[in-house]
Amino acid sequence: MIRLAILASGSGSNAEKIMEHFQGSSKAQVGLVGSNKADAFVLERAKKFGVPTFTFSRKEMDAGVLLAKLQEEKIDWVILAGFLLKIPDELIRAFSDHMVNIHPALLPKYGGKGMYGVHVHEAVKASGDTETGITIHLVNEHYDEGKIIFQAATPVTPEDTPDTIAQKVHALEHRYFPEVIESLLG
Ligand code: GAR
Repeated sequence: MIRLAILASGSGSNAEKIMEHFQGSSKAQVGLVGSNKADAFVLERAKKFGVPTFTFSRKEMDAGVLLAKLQEEKIDWVILAGFLLKIPDELIRAFSDHMVNIHPALLPKYGGKGMYGVHVHEAVKASGDTETGITIHLVNEHYDEGKIIFQAATPVTPEDTPDTIAQKVHALEHRYFPEVIESLLG
């Protein structure tokens, strides 16, 4: 059984879709949900699925506490689903080619530091771009620059607001992220 850990900092709607997808799977299971926010709603969602949770501070993560926990839990793949802290290099190296992130835009556009959540959708709106989308990529030491595994696009109309763009992007994420993860597992 392949063991997945999901790291998320907020609501965790993607985490929920992933837990739903692998519930009862004979191939992979979500063995841990980790968050740097003790009050993140993703922790409630994990409880609903009976998935163990783990919270940690940035300082603890940087000191290797999260890596130790992932190793203790025999995690094979780390899934970043709205996780907003920069991952320490040691952790990235430990899960080299086994860590995947979802970004709410068509990278390389709207990537890099400060580009997360609503900030991305505001930037798309301000640009006048006629499409946006999602990018699922492997994580390396350079923010949002790991190998791209999958992208999907959605139109942006002049009537769209950052909120409606977010809804369209979330719909794509929920539709594709779980199955792209499954395809990566081989
Ligand atoms: C998702 O849209 C994800 O792409 C984004 O945070 C949202 C989390 O939503 N991630 C980033 O911006 C990372 N740079 P969720 O908590 O409902 O899954």
